[in-house]
Amino acid sequence: MAPSQAEIDSFHKSAFPNANEMRKYLTQDSGSWDDVWKNNLTLWEAGAVDVQPPLRQCIESGEVAFPKQGRAMVPGCGRGFDTIYLASALGWDYVLGADVSETALAAANDFLKTKGVSPSVAAKVKFQITDFFKMSVPDEEKFDLIYDYTFYVAIPPSMRATWGTKMQELVKPGGHLITLMFPHIQEPYDLGPPYWSSFEDYVHALGGSDGSGGAKGWEIVCDKIPPAETLSDVHKGKDRLVVWKRL
Ligand SMILES: C[S@@+](CC[C@H](N)C(=O)[O-])C[C@H]1O[C@@H](n2cnc3c(N)ncnc32)[C@H](O)[C@@H]1O
Repeated sequence: MAPSQAEIDSFHKSAFPNANEMRKYLTQDSGSWDDVWKNNLTLWEAGAVDVQPPLRQCIESGEVAFPKQGRAMVPGCGRGFDTIYLASALGWDYVLGADVSETALAAANDFLKTKGVSPSVAAKVKFQITDFFKMSVPDEEKFDLIYDYTFYVAIPPSMRATWGTKMQELVKPGGHLITLMFPHIQEPYDLGPPYWSSFEDYVHALGGSDGSGGAKGWEIVCDKIPPAETLSDVHKGKDRLVVWKRL
């Protein structure tokens, strides 16, 4: 059953208490995210400046056959802990954290220097000021893995189709896209960011239905509702992790 507006309001109030303050700084211009960072309104980090458990589970369980070497990218990487984690856990030589905000990347570089990251891992991490929607890479630099957590729900829903086209362009054939959907809520609503997200909405953004429950041009190689006991309170019942393999 779809949540009522009152339930959505109450979830947002408890999960993202300063969201209205953050939204005051955001305009249609993606550069406005830098003002959010400058004003310390990184509310999505509240209580969890760390990698989400479902990503660790996905990478460390060996359930998905990731290659031994490759290029990975985290769009909207923010403080960069997911980028650093992927460089460390996958052992790949190139993991890019891309964010449009200069202040976010200063924080990411600071995180890299001050959190005891080993020099061998740090050497694999690159943080770059980039607008995801303007990214363009030659075929040989396409990614074996892209991880999206809270980037999809940060951009206006009207840009989701472009997000999907970019993912098709940037993930190489045979490469993977990990989407940690949060908040995963079936019915659309206007409030955001963070905006709602649903599995069907990702299918739509990634190219439309393939007629068997997936998205055209992608194979689903993992689809999980993470167990509630592994999640922090705001994530319980609101996460879904899907790994898409580009055909
Ligand atoms: C909700 S935050 C999530 C940050 C990070 N993924 C995390 O979980 O901590 C969204 C991030 O996306 C960045 N961002 C927004 N629009 C962007 C764009 N068009 N290209 C690249 N980064 C963008 C913002 O600066 C912000 O750091």
